[in-house]
Amino acid sequence: RKAQELIRPQLPPELSRRDGRCPFDPAAALTELSGQGRVHRFEQADGDVVWLVTGHEEARAVLAEPRMSADRMNSPRARRVISPELHAEMFPPERRAGSFIFMDAPEHTRIRKMLTGQFTVRRMRDLTPRVHEIVTSHLDAMVEKGPPADLVRDFALPVPSLVICELLGVDYGDRDEFQERTAKLLSLDATIDEQIKNATGLRVFMHSLVRSKQAAQGDDLLSGLVRDTDLSTDELVGVANLLLIAGHETTANMLALGTFALLEHPGQFAKLRDEPELIDNAVEELLRYLSIVSMGVARHAKEDVEIGGVTIRAGETVVVSVPAVNRDPGQYEDPHALLVDRPRGHHVAFGHGIHQCLGQQLARVEMTVGFTELLRRLPSLRLAVPVDEVPLRTDMSIYGVHRLPVTW
Ligand code: HEM
Repeated sequence: RKAQELIRPQLPPELSRRDGRCPFDPAAALTELSGQGRVHRFEQADGDVVWLVTGHEEARAVLAEPRMSADRMNSPRARRVISPELHAEMFPPERRAGSFIFMDAPEHTRIRKMLTGQFTVRRMRDLTPRVHEIVTSHLDAMVEKGPPADLVRDFALPVPSLVICELLGVDYGDRDEFQERTAKLLSLDATIDEQIKNATGLRVFMHSLVRSKQAAQGDDLLSGLVRDTDLSTDELVGVANLLLIAGHETTANMLALGTFALLEHPGQFAKLRDEPELIDNAVEELLRYLSIVSMGVARHAKEDVEIGGVTIRAGETVVVSVPAVNRDPGQYEDPHALLVDRPRGHHVAFGHGIHQCLGQQLARVEMTVGFTELLRRLPSLRLAVPVDEVPLRTDMSIYGVHRLPVTW
């Protein structure tokens, strides 16, 4: 566990975490730093250098740069601080297989291409009515049970989890088990041992899912990968796990934190409720404003690279601060305001470059349907507790709320 922590870029915590001062703003120290420049150098106690990028243009330059590597496990730092024996134990080939978010070209290109071949416009379009049904059935159940409700438990967590079931082709009979396992994976109450047990259990589940698709294929994405590609079983399990982890927690936190932000901006809530055609703008604005990938996106330089007038040396780490970049005053007028009718523009909430979020269209569908139906069905939605009693995920790499008690 210590070694895991070591491969994470070590930035001052006040810059990589929320300070909880305002539930939606980046930490005050980060906003202050952004005001002083666009690329910032930090030297660690052991001499290693980490750069923090807060400017929009510079962030896009880093993420589009082929000399920047996403392979966190094999960064010079990881190789230095983790002994070869421990490294082999922590990252055995079967655990790395399929996890293309940590791969560089051409390995990354090979798997990503197979995935984009499956994430088709048609499959996403066909999923939309199912997303609608899943959203509606959860709102029905919440309304029937009556207020108050925890929007995280009753809506924001189960909706994306069922959408991923749909995507991967998890049988109806296995969905409760799948949901329980994914919910446990995100649980804060789990001890380290429980977490390891949960992660292993999920892998076993995914393995048997992959085996079942290899035996008989349906219309789902996993079946498509089995049918149309030469991915190995370990790679298929890795891909399925990545889709679950990358697509579940992120969307769940956007739904919950997005609702919280709208409730705390009643003018914007009312505007979106009364003009539902603003939803596309509102979704992009919430993604920008909330920047839930709070700790940013990390890379390391494979060669010397110049970014924003400074030279990043081979081996040094770069962290693109998504919250700071999405509030860059050079890019957005009044960047700290939440405006559901803000004209759509570039943001880096889904990253940029070859690793730009593969599931972004699906996430947009989930948010569009989720927020629209929530506001339509519960136009008088409000918090059921004082605002400072909403538990914030200041300690997690994906920011959001642990619970959102609401009433209507
Ligand atoms: C990559 C954010 C939803 C699957 C990324 C990255 C970001 C991101 C910032 C880039 C990481 C990097 O450059 O290292 C989000 C947010 C979401 C969301 C904010 C929800 C609002 C989803 C969904 C799925 C998904 C629903 C799948 C069903 C992926 C995958 C990658 C990725 C597979 C890796 C792509 C690659 O390396 O080529 N996401 N994501 N994401 N996301 Fe998402």
